[in-house]
Amino acid sequence: MAGVSGFSHLVVDVTDLDRSEAFYRDVLGLEILGRGFLNDERPNSTLAFNTHHRIVLIQVPDKVEPFRPNSSSIHHALMMNADQFDRAEERLRGLGYKIGDNRAQFRAVGDRNIDIFDPDGHRYQLQTYNPNARAFEPENVGEVVCGNVKDYKVGDVKAFVAGKFFVVRRAEGFFALSRWCTHRKGLLAWKPDHWCFYCPMHGVTYDRKGENTSYFHDVPPMSAHPLSIAADGTITVRPDELIERESFDESQLVAVPC
Ligand code: FES
Repeated sequence: MAGVSGFSHLVVDVTDLDRSEAFYRDVLGLEILGRGFLNDERPNSTLAFNTHHRIVLIQVPDKVEPFRPNSSSIHHALMMNADQFDRAEERLRGLGYKIGDNRAQFRAVGDRNIDIFDPDGHRYQLQTYNPNARAFEPENVGEVVCGNVKDYKVGDVKAFVAGKFFVVRRAEGFFALSRWCTHRKGLLAWKPDHWCFYCPMHGVTYDRKGENTSYFHDVPPMSAHPLSIAADGTITVRPDELIERESFDESQLVAVPC
């Protein structure tokens, strides 16, 4: 991947520059820096966020099409801290906007989002993340007996409800992986047809080693729980204890006793 040190500006087509400048200034709170900064014969205006980021509005003669084919919209997400989000929400309510989030069920507890559309239908998501959204909260279920090694064949993955974990049988041994997604704590499902763990919240996938295989590059591997195997082959997991991992290695597996 090419290295970049930041994101600079977003160019947005609009049909009425005056109307859009007013929206981006009064509703999103951007500062209008001026017109005609862009070397483009079409009327254009540059606006600034409180960061170094800019939005350039270009007035186009034709209708603006803010939708991709077969998609609900093209959208951009603006991240805020909780205070900034509260202020934005208050301002939007004051301006008469209806505040709602039709994807609230897919978000981690405490994550918030407001969808807002500019006059041409471009969608912006105002978002804030709950800093505790990834915190591990043990269910205090104690030790969970997960059957016998004879109940598993190599490649098997079994989900356990109490304690929310998976037991994975690899050729070299067993381990237990937490069902909580390490991105924003969605609840993972095992997809046997695709040989992966899948999070319905934002689509992160993990392989059977619990390593992230999705396009979200900064999501750590699934966390693990202590697993032990008794001499008679009984498997026990302690899901109240979490082991965070940076990567997979075979020492994390518990071998089947001879
Ligand atoms: S919580 Fe975002 S992908 Fe799992």
